[in-house]
Amino acid sequence: MTAKIIDGKQVAARLRESVAARTALLPFKPGLAVVLVGEDPASTVYVRNKDRAANAAGIAASTLRLPMETTQAELLATIARLNADNDVDGILVQLPLPPQIDARAVIEAIDPAKDVDGFHPVNVGRLHDGRATLVPCTPLGVMKLLAEAGVSLRGTRALVLGRSSIVGKPAAALLTAADATVTIAHSRTRDLAAECRRAEVLVAAVGRAELVRGDWIATDAVVIDVGINRLPDGRLVGDVAFDEAATVAGAITPVPGGVGPMTIACLLENTVTAAVARRG
Ligand code: GUN
Repeated sequence: MTAKIIDGKQVAARLRESVAARTALLPFKPGLAVVLVGEDPASTVYVRNKDRAANAAGIAASTLRLPMETTQAELLATIARLNADNDVDGILVQLPLPPQIDARAVIEAIDPAKDVDGFHPVNVGRLHDGRATLVPCTPLGVMKLLAEAGVSLRGTRALVLGRSSIVGKPAAALLTAADATVTIAHSRTRDLAAECRRAEVLVAAVGRAELVRGDWIATDAVVIDVGINRLPDGRLVGDVAFDEAATVAGAITPVPGGVGPMTIACLLENTVTAAVARRG
């Protein structure tokens, strides 16, 4: 048996096009401010890609590059200025932040109406209360891929592997809201393999290269691999051993080209959502 490959590149390209079509009809240009502190190489690449994709979709995106030594007070002052700027609809502070800065305090300083990452406690609370407005981009992308793959979630046994605030917990909330029966597993879970084998939908987001083996996967399960891990030989792999899993699963996302491209596309969608909600 060979799994259907869920093509995130293609789904993301269509979503970016639909965002561009929406922005073209708006009487204003949605604004996105991305804040990058320091020069972490991976963050620098992500931020450049966000900027490009946003501008291509008709969003006025700008990146504020602050030095590594930026103090918390300086960053909070920047956030306050962006909160007050009527042309800015979305604010994204790229994580991780340097050690002298308390990321939690920075996220809490962002106007929840402009929090396109969906990390502010107000947006987290709304998500868990079933009243989501701005939802974290990666789990939102996971849900869109499941929808594209034609997966019916109602009553399904879903396993989320990983309990981060950025992916695992919000993914579990979205799956619950879609009427799946959700288990969250993590590094302290006893017999992870057995938990995985029960899952009809498996979302892997632990950041451990090829942790999930083919014999952990139920026949015909849908596997969404959020992990992006670089092996010593330079190859990029997910949290799932793809070749093994693809012989068992019903459908699976590749790495790269699965969830990754969806994250930025969902950020663009969140920016338009925030802009329309703010400006009517
Ligand atoms: N760093 C890694 N992923 C993310 C994300 O989704 N948002 C932000 N702001 N930073 C990140």
